[in-house]
Amino acid sequence: MNIILMGCPGAGKGTQSAKLQEYFQLKHISTGDVLRAEIASGSALGKQIAGIIDKGNLVSDEMMIAMLENIVKNTNKGIVFDGFPRTVAQAEVLDDMMRRLQRKITKVVMINLPEKEVVGRISSRRQCKKCGEILHITSAQEKVCPHCGGELYTRPDDTPARVKHRLEIYHKDTLPVKNYYQNSGKYVEINGDQSPEKVFEDIKISLSK
Ligand code: AP5
Ligand code: MG
Repeated sequence: MNIILMGCPGAGKGTQSAKLQEYFQLKHISTGDVLRAEIASGSALGKQIAGIIDKGNLVSDEMMIAMLENIVKNTNKGIVFDGFPRTVAQAEVLDDMMRRLQRKITKVVMINLPEKEVVGRISSRRQCKKCGEILHITSAQEKVCPHCGGELYTRPDDTPARVKHRLEIYHKDTLPVKNYYQNSGKYVEINGDQSPEKVFEDIKISLSK
């Protein structure tokens, strides 16, 4: 099973990927997390990437694809792609890569969320530096991960202005990817404006069809 999870910033791709990873024993590939890990490593490439993604822009297709192919090649597990492909060019390269690696995309799941919900969701998001858990906090006093005690942080691209910019880029560059898959027979849409548990139930049902 190789699944693509699509959706605007804050739609719940990371939250649902974690559930899919655990339930179906998949490899979760979040291109955002891959880029943030490169930044955290302090490498020259990481510094270059930080200058791009902290402003809410997309890194180049070439850079993204080279990083991704290495990860895909090195796993035998089914994959949940989170945040990739983000442009039609990336979708075309992914098709080509999967063909070469004799793998297939099983489903493309679009999680729909009304845009008025996005800023609120993202401003309450924290991620754990240690275990990577995505959390929805109810008070700014919450500084420690309830699961592992790791430090919680706010992503630099999560300010309201950057989120607005990310939404513009989503409309311009990523929504055309929906048209790319819509007639493939693999494309499904899920209502993301429900509890995470209900969204997950709906995704599981769509995968069984
Ligand atoms: P990325 O990290 O992928 O960010 P994104 O697409 O903007 O999406 P988010 O991670 O913000 O949201 P999400 O859908 O994962 O929601 P989450 O589950 O966290 O990419 C970041 C940047 O990296 C890009 O802007 C770009 O610069 C670069 N990049 C990445 N991939 C790239 C690519 N392929 N090519 C080029 N550049 C690339 O949930 C959000 C919040 O809502 C959380 O607080 C969560 O607890 C809460 N929540 C989740 N589900 C629910 C629910 N059902 N009900 C209530 N709250 C919920
Ligand atoms: Mg995410």
